[in-house]
Amino acid sequence: MGCFKFDLFIWVLSLLCLGLLCSGFVPADNYLIDCGSLANTTVGNRVFLADNLASKYLSSPKDVVANVSLKSITSFDDSPLYQTARIFPESSKYTFSISHSGRHWIRLYFYPFVFGSYDLSKAKFSISAQNFALLTDFSVQNTTLKEFSVNVTSDSLVITFTPSSNSFAFLNAIEVVSVPDQLITDDVSSGSEKFQGLMNQALETAWRVNMGGPIVSFENDTLWRTWVPDQSFLVNENLAKDFSNIAAVKYDVGLATEDIAPQTVYGTLTEMNSADNPNSNFNVTWEFTVDPGFQYLVRFHFCDVVSKSLNQLYFNVYVDSSNVAPDLDLSTSTINKLAVPYYLDIVTASIVRNKLRISIGPSAVNNAYPNAILNGLEIMKMNNSAGSLSGTNSVSPSNSSSKSNVGVIVGASVGSFIAVALAGVLFVLCRRRKRLADQGHSKTWSPFSMNGTNSHTMGTKVLVGDGSVDLPPHGHPSCVVHMMGDCERKAYAYPASDFYHM
Ligand SMILES: *[C@@H]1O[C@H](CO)[C@@H](O)[C@H](O)[C@H]1NC(C)=O
Ligand SMILES: *[C@@H]1O[C@H](CO)[C@@H](O)[C@H](O)[C@H]1NC(C)=O
Ligand SMILES: *[C@@H]1O[C@H](CO)[C@@H](O)[C@H](O)[C@H]1NC(C)=O
Ligand SMILES: *[C@@H]1O[C@H](CO)[C@@H](O)[C@H](O)[C@H]1NC(C)=O
Ligand SMILES: *[C@@H]1O[C@H](CO)[C@@H](O)[C@H](O)[C@H]1NC(C)=O
Ligand SMILES: *[C@@H]1O[C@H](CO)[C@@H](O)[C@H](O)[C@H]1NC(C)=O
Ligand SMILES: *[C@@H]1O[C@H](CO)[C@@H](O)[C@H](O)[C@H]1NC(C)=O
Repeated sequence: MGCFKFDLFIWVLSLLCLGLLCSGFVPADNYLIDCGSLANTTVGNRVFLADNLASKYLSSPKDVVANVSLKSITSFDDSPLYQTARIFPESSKYTFSISHSGRHWIRLYFYPFVFGSYDLSKAKFSISAQNFALLTDFSVQNTTLKEFSVNVTSDSLVITFTPSSNSFAFLNAIEVVSVPDQLITDDVSSGSEKFQGLMNQALETAWRVNMGGPIVSFENDTLWRTWVPDQSFLVNENLAKDFSNIAAVKYDVGLATEDIAPQTVYGTLTEMNSADNPNSNFNVTWEFTVDPGFQYLVRFHFCDVVSKSLNQLYFNVYVDSSNVAPDLDLSTSTINKLAVPYYLDIVTASIVRNKLRISIGPSAVNNAYPNAILNGLEIMKMNNSAGSLSGTNSVSPSNSSSKSNVGVIVGASVGSFIAVALAGVLFVLCRRRKRLADQGHSKTWSPFSMNGTNSHTMGTKVLVGDGSVDLPPHGHPSCVVHMMGDCERKAYAYPASDFYHM
């Protein structure tokens, strides 16, 4: 009897555990502060603490609390956060105690208003965390959200604000929030080649994009991320078209979960606009402004809600000129199921240009019909060898271009978000389940496919390349022309740092 109770306990606990993994993530550490605010501020389903309630985290020799009328800020859902700020005339720091070691998001909100003698747009300052330089001699001209993540293994996280000479620092709001452990794993690998060491990397989200769909705001994302639409990044919009079937998306055990990306990201996509021409042969290309001198972690999100049957869609995925997933067959990647979310990680070599191109195009494998799809994309900047994420500290392009001729190993891995973690649980569970079944308790159990745990070995190709920094001069003439015109404008309209508000 005692043994049975224990079984049941384990079983319920595991189900609870799985439930948490599969749906709402509850961050162990969750600090939300609306700097300078006299009252708590509710944004979506979260409460940002009033400044005075958060003073225990701050150590600052001098206090200036600033505010501005809401009218001067454009209307975003989180705009109340931008209404108040804390100004740091001298070096100041926030110290947060960390209960769960692992990766944490640091989200910093800035809006440069004028308050008395302080013109925040003139502020110039640096921000560091855990020996990483997050921002150096930074200044902002518009509402800006910067998102970083670092793996915190000590019991506290210190974030330091240092004014540049004759200047001051400021901050409108801050978040320090636990990231699910499996969201970014240590290695991006397949077969014999791999990139290892992501756990030591500080990352900055450069771009987070929902292909072929609407903006997905933090309110509709289990991890409070914002996904912007992709149209403005397309090099030639005429070659692309949108498709959407959000209801069809079926998350599968062992592959991407809702925490990897929400249903609205996986259920909408951009595909080739083949115009019913079975001989169509072109790429759909997006171009993103990036800081040269850094490596990037690129995460591709796929979900084949287009095909009517399995193995109908084969395509290539390029990062600049490198084919990072030749003849990608999503049916095989998702264990012979359609509409199952799946992701693919790539680590680039150090980037030389200030643009990163992502393309998809049909593969030579006999397609039922030439097509290629992309559902979502994340581009994350990795800290350089000096531990910096700051553009101004970056290696100058001329220096790095000579080095980049040396082949740099770049890894790719498929998304096996919870596969490894689950393997152990599944093993235990399956044994429990068997016993419970004998005792007539199996009805509430929903079966797992053990195949899911194999997924992490089903890696696609590893790329060995030059970081693909050269724009092929022989590309589509129309793309090149389009790029010179439109993309310059786009680059201006959407600077890399302001991925949040567009
Ligand atoms: C502000 O929020 C905190 C945390 O949710 C809560 O403990 C506190 O009572 C709130 N204060 C006010 C004035 O609502
Ligand atoms: C700004 O702060 C002042 C003084 O603390 C306060 O009286 C005023 O209501 C605040 N204004 C806004 C828009 O919050
Ligand atoms: C964080 O770093 C520690 C030690 O370096 C490592 O054991 C752990 O797996 C890392 N966590 C993540 C989420 O990368
Ligand atoms: C969240 O998603 C729902 C359904 O897709 C949509 O109606 C709503 O406008 C979204 N909310 C935000 C804030 O984007
Ligand atoms: C697609 O782009 C890649 C990389 O730039 C290039 O090698 C390939 O030839 C292009 N395919 C087509 C059909 O233009
Ligand atoms: C990023 O910083 C970590 C920790 O200092 C270091 O181990 C790693 O090599 C750095 N990354 C790169 C690409 O240099
Ligand atoms: C600031 O950002 C908003 C929204 O992204 C935009 O409408 C506005 O034009 C920007 N202002 C400047 C000066 O760039």
